[in-house]
Amino acid sequence: MSETITIQPARHIAGSLRLPGDKSISHRYAMLAGIANGCSRLENFASGADCASTLACMRQLGCVVEHDTRPGAVPAVEVEGNGAQLQAPAGALDCGNSGSTMRMLSGILAGQEFCSELIGDASLSRRPMARIMKPLREMGATLTAEQDRPPLQIRGGALKAIDYTLPVASAQVKSSVMFAGLYAAGDTYVSEPLRTRDHGELALRAFGAEVESVGPNRWRVRGGQKLRPIHALVPGDISTAAFFLCAAALFPDSNLVFDNLLLNPTRAALFDVLSGLGLHIKILKVEERHGELVGVVHARYGGLRGATISGAMSAALIDELPVLAAIAPFSSEGIEIRDARELRVKESDRIAAVAANLRAMGATVEEREDGLRVPGKQHLHGAKLESFDDHRIAMAFAVAALRAEGETQIAGAEAARISFPEFYTTLDTVVER
Ligand code: S3P
Repeated sequence: MSETITIQPARHIAGSLRLPGDKSISHRYAMLAGIANGCSRLENFASGADCASTLACMRQLGCVVEHDTRPGAVPAVEVEGNGAQLQAPAGALDCGNSGSTMRMLSGILAGQEFCSELIGDASLSRRPMARIMKPLREMGATLTAEQDRPPLQIRGGALKAIDYTLPVASAQVKSSVMFAGLYAAGDTYVSEPLRTRDHGELALRAFGAEVESVGPNRWRVRGGQKLRPIHALVPGDISTAAFFLCAAALFPDSNLVFDNLLLNPTRAALFDVLSGLGLHIKILKVEERHGELVGVVHARYGGLRGATISGAMSAALIDELPVLAAIAPFSSEGIEIRDARELRVKESDRIAAVAANLRAMGATVEEREDGLRVPGKQHLHGAKLESFDDHRIAMAFAVAALRAEGETQIAGAEAARISFPEFYTTLDTVVER
């Protein structure tokens, strides 16, 4: 059922936030916990539907998954691993809206002695899978999908090690090949054209596997390694923090503090861009947990200038680009995004979706094949917008709407449940009107 939310303009953003666990890390911990020997406890596990899809798949593959919601205890997910070999599922594995679930779980399924089928919702059924089918086929698994789009059938089994260079920078593909590497005879090598998020490498190490860095953006995973369970507190999701940070960048005197926030350097390009735009960001405390950097972050308004985001920066900020583009009209110099063609094959065509919503609010936007240019110093009015069934589009425009004149309605607002079901209520706790 499509829900429409109404967003009223704001005057100011202030407060402190402790966000649910990072989605990228939660997916990986849940999958590796499922093939570990023993029980893993994952505190502050991501609360969105995407990671719930991963947990449901692991359950179907024979793992016992329980939610610890005892009063007084830190909410946690407990996964009793099945060891490297999972159980054949009774039916198709439903990945919902989650490309991460389908692509990374495929790496594990490629090493299983059974056939499985992965399905998804309408959006996921349009997304390209050739990027994982190619390397997993080279390793010896049989993968079939009509026109390389889900449903995806996988016949797994004994795998051989490969040396694979990713044609397009994608952390999902890198993790998928590394997970399959656990099942291969020999050492699997993975090279990536640009450094992408390294949660797969760090998670494998956290679960006791050896993953070696053997050159710039090149990794080696030894086949046949057994995983041991972990007890972890998942760091707060930095891509979710992006919405609140961008909101704070819109209003003088705004102030936000984040506790337990992920600070992994392969994700922290967001801080560089926001600092360049003018936001004052201070890291107050840093610690390392299971290889991931985590800390307390203080953000304070400091103007909103302009930026050009391209090359490796666009890849590093791929999930944050929609909200950066959505606040661009309020900047003094505008924001240009290039080399971000991948945005067209996310949960929606995010370039087209951002351009359509900005135009509906009265903005001038130049849409390009691989990005957008949004001039600054524009006045936006409230409008009737669409989420395009995409969580990041819904949340990006809830933020832009805070600075528009008049109220904004976003149809399909419930899409936020994919990564952050509590988004609108949490936004209300820091918005002053
Ligand atoms: C992710 C990688 C990115 C990102 C996605 C999560 C991950 O996708 O957009 O939201 O957890 O590895 P790609 O691998 O397609 O770049």
